[in-house]
Amino acid sequence: MNINTLTVIDNRTDATYTLPIENGAIRTMDLRQMKTSPDDFGLMGYDPAFMNTASCKSAITFIDGDKGILRYRGYPIEELAEHCSFLEVAYLLLHGELPNKTENEEWTRQITYHTMLHESIKKFMDGFAYDAHPMGILVATVGALSTFYPDARNIHDEASRRTQIYRLVAKMPTLAAFAYRHSRGLPYAYPDNDLTYTQNFLNMLFKMTEVKYRPEPALARALDVLFILHADHEQNASANVMRAVGSAHTDPYLSTAGAAAALAGPLHGGANEAVLRMLDQIGKKENIPDYIKGVKEGKYKLMGFGHRVYKNYDPRAQIIKNTAEQVFQVTGRNPKLDMALELEKIALNDDYFVKRKLYPNVDFYSGIIYQAMGFNPQMFTVLFAIPRTAGWLAQWQEMLQDGEQKISRPRQIYVGYGMRQVEQPEPGTKAKAA
Ligand SMILES: CC(C)(COP(=O)(O)OP(=O)(O)OC[C@H]1O[C@@H](n2cnc3c(N)ncnc32)[C@H](O)[C@@H]1OP(=O)(O)O)[C@@H](O)C(=O)NCCC(=O)NCCS
Repeated sequence: MNINTLTVIDNRTDATYTLPIENGAIRTMDLRQMKTSPDDFGLMGYDPAFMNTASCKSAITFIDGDKGILRYRGYPIEELAEHCSFLEVAYLLLHGELPNKTENEEWTRQITYHTMLHESIKKFMDGFAYDAHPMGILVATVGALSTFYPDARNIHDEASRRTQIYRLVAKMPTLAAFAYRHSRGLPYAYPDNDLTYTQNFLNMLFKMTEVKYRPEPALARALDVLFILHADHEQNASANVMRAVGSAHTDPYLSTAGAAAALAGPLHGGANEAVLRMLDQIGKKENIPDYIKGVKEGKYKLMGFGHRVYKNYDPRAQIIKNTAEQVFQVTGRNPKLDMALELEKIALNDDYFVKRKLYPNVDFYSGIIYQAMGFNPQMFTVLFAIPRTAGWLAQWQEMLQDGEQKISRPRQIYVGYGMRQVEQPEPGTKAKAA
């Protein structure tokens, strides 16, 4: 007998089935043959929130949540963060290999070349209220790019896909920076092509009256590292949206808008903003035990803790902790770090968190660094969306090239009414449901 199989006895019919196991999984479609009668639809899998269902095969990112391992295309995240720039890592995610010198130069040239936005986008942006959340602005404006690039609908054309990838990776920082400047009532600062990706982003955010903005190299490098850590995370909520929207053959700008909307939620990319608000709410170290008590009583969650996949220390949180020290050498120490460290120490020794394997995730420390760099909490998720765009695009492209993928369309288990009829109305009265 082939040991890579699963034998199932359907006790309803006493029938026995042998299902192949491939890559540690059975195909849920193989359950469909299990029927109680010829007109039975067949057995389905029920898995709300995809807790144990693989929706695709992917060669992009590997996570071992129990061991705390994260790799892009086989490279450990720690090595990429130490030796590469964000653009090199974005190239790796999208192309499968790190770029050689010539490839890197061409990739960087293309991204630099595509940073400008159509002037009409500025008018569009001006229409938002002064206090509009920059994430809402980002979602709306990246979706609006779809109207400027109708060629993006040629999703099966490799050259067109490549162009949209250049545009999206290049324009996200410009959109993000313009959203920020709008929320501060500042004039938009145009891209400076002499600068690197993250240096230019800092330029577009913080340039004031100086002729040439000179970014602090340590801060630009720290941002590069943070961007590398956030670039992809396999089938997370927003990557899943990117694939699902893209599976309808929607163009990549609209698909990215969908993915960014998912990222905006506080259970996903919005968590770093929520961590800062939580630290503000706690106020001082002395209040931490009371706060932890409230968490254990189920009143609220400890934001920045816990993860669907990591049941160990999130490797990104460790790298961020080190990056924080480098940033603080330039900006001065953010006192919130000490509070966060204390919170972590108490939580990691508390039975409630130990038992549930709740460890700090990437969002626990990133907000503290961003705040020290001068960003307000509303910008944190936007800072997540920029690098994650490379991951979304890699996932989108892989989905399009996967012959097994079709329009993404889950099944449901219908638990509503059986067939019923609308009561015939009395003359002169409205119809109502039976
Ligand atoms: C990330 C997250 C959504 C994962 O959720 P999940 O995989 O569905 O895990 P669950 O909600 O089933 O959590 C399992 C248990 O841990 C508890 N738990 C999970 N995260 C918790 C947190 N941050 N604080 C307190 N308790 C938490 C749950 O209440 C549950 O307890 P129970 O078994 O007594 O009911 C969740 O951990 C969370 O909300 N964290 C805070 C938000 C955050 O930091 N998000 C960023 C993710 S990168």
